[in-house]
Amino acid sequence: MAEPLLSVTDLRAGYGPTQILQGISLSVRAGERLALIGRNGVGKTTLLNTIMGLTTQHGGQVTWQGAPIGSLAPHRRAALGLGLVPQTRDIFKSLSVEENLLAGMRGDASLDEAYALFPRLKERRRNGGGQLSGGEQQMLAVARTLMGRPRLLMLDEPLEGLAPVICEMLMGVFERLAAEGSTTVILVEQHADMALGFADRGVILEAGRLVHEAPAAELRRDAAVLERYLGVGLA
Ligand SMILES: Nc1ncnc2c1ncn2[C@@H]1O[C@H](COP(=O)(O)OP(=O)(O)O)[C@@H](O)[C@H]1O
Ligand SMILES: [Mg+2]
Repeated sequence: MAEPLLSVTDLRAGYGPTQILQGISLSVRAGERLALIGRNGVGKTTLLNTIMGLTTQHGGQVTWQGAPIGSLAPHRRAALGLGLVPQTRDIFKSLSVEENLLAGMRGDASLDEAYALFPRLKERRRNGGGQLSGGEQQMLAVARTLMGRPRLLMLDEPLEGLAPVICEMLMGVFERLAAEGSTTVILVEQHADMALGFADRGVILEAGRLVHEAPAAELRRDAAVLERYLGVGLA
């Protein structure tokens, strides 16, 4: 079997001395779509942030195409092909849409590609980031990360607080990116039904540990597991 694109092994990490991740092991193959779910506060954001190099790693390893990257700064990981759309979105509110996109540009990425995916951003290109609606800000956060030409796209609750029509549009974009086969996706999502509908495989986190892993279609039907770890039944 081909080497995984990304692996984490016995990963322990947190914020300063506070350890949140209690030893997580997980691999993602190139082209795979992984859903990462779990209740609030279980460590989903901390896991993505640790993969990107934004937390304090206490132990274990992050491996990219077989090479350890756990000591690299976030911008070095981005240069290797890791991309994160943070839960906080983190766009530059005082810069225009276009300036935000250019700030994320790497390699042969182009504004035209970003605008083709998100025509709304083209219409708004001269507007300040702070003038955008929540949905537009999320489009911009996604588009800016894509300007870095990531091979691995990590999405941290990209639908949070957005209207259903915007959620559908964003999911359509994620579908297109994943279907092209060149983008591997890790999707963190509170809407477990939507995340598992999108993903090939689902993993559940609880209290900083990976407690369950299954094919997404199977997990979606596993009412007992979803009830136990998410406290929700899916229709
Ligand atoms: N910057 C931080 N400093 C200290 N603790 C934090 C910080 N961010 C999150 N935490 C704590 O880490 C735990 C996991 O949080 P998080 O990874 O954001 O969970 P999730 O994304 O699953 O909701 C929580 O107990 C949270 O309070
Ligand atoms: Mg989170």
